[in-house]
Amino acid sequence: MVSENGKAVVPRHVAIVMDGNGRWAKKRFLPRFFGHKQGVDALVRVVQACIDREIEYLTVFAFSSENWKRPSDEVSGLMGLVLAAVSRYLARMGDMGVRIRIVGDRDAVSDKLRNAWNEAEAATAHNSKLTLNVAFNYGGRWDIVQAAKAAIKAGVPAEELSEARLGEFMAMSYAPDPDLFIRTGGEVRISNFMLWQVAYTEFVFSDCLWPEFGEAQLDAAIEAFRERDRRFGGVKEAAPALAGA
Ligand code: IPE
Ligand code: IPE
Ligand code: MG
Repeated sequence: MVSENGKAVVPRHVAIVMDGNGRWAKKRFLPRFFGHKQGVDALVRVVQACIDREIEYLTVFAFSSENWKRPSDEVSGLMGLVLAAVSRYLARMGDMGVRIRIVGDRDAVSDKLRNAWNEAEAATAHNSKLTLNVAFNYGGRWDIVQAAKAAIKAGVPAEELSEARLGEFMAMSYAPDPDLFIRTGGEVRISNFMLWQVAYTEFVFSDCLWPEFGEAQLDAAIEAFRERDRRFGGVKEAAPALAGA
């Protein structure tokens, strides 16, 4: 959505690093798993809020390439939670007009999870209100490497490899680059999220722990985004003509 002065009122594409689930649980003397469980509910809330605000793409970081380093019970808890979330929320997401797309390396996940992802994508493929990209077993570096491999396999000659051409092979080539990047949980880093796509994205870091994130925090991030002056390397206004020229 664009205002009269041409500035985006609402970002078309929002990317979120949903961080802070473990600390949310710890504060309540609960196992980390409960934080992840609450995190799923926060995601469903935020999906609805994005639809209400006419945001077209929401990309969420659900499991990074590096999250395999966590204790095995946490990793298996997360995998089980994803399966449970798909069976619990898939129909609702479909009714809401959400198209689900999974981005990341699917080779390393179980057949059961891979099948659930395929089912979620197939069941929502016709929806167009909001595209929800779930980055799972995803890393920005993985994405660049897989794109390079795919370009080589497609026979793209080195002389033809440009930013635009390589971009066609990136995992989210169907979506515009994110306008707004939000990270909850207080850390101020990218943690290998969409490295290629965030070249000119506006960043908002929030201390809010992900399970507590909702409409008010989303609106605050959008408000901060609106105040940014996006120049994309250019200048704000045309340079004044040189005196006497
Ligand atoms: C983010 O929350 C969710 C995943 C990485 C799956 P964390 O689990 O990283 O929560 P904190 O950062 O330990 O609080
Ligand atoms: C980033 O959070 C990944 C996800 C939210 C899925 P992490 O908690 O894994 O990031 P670091 O380890 O603090 O950088
Ligand atoms: Mg974390």
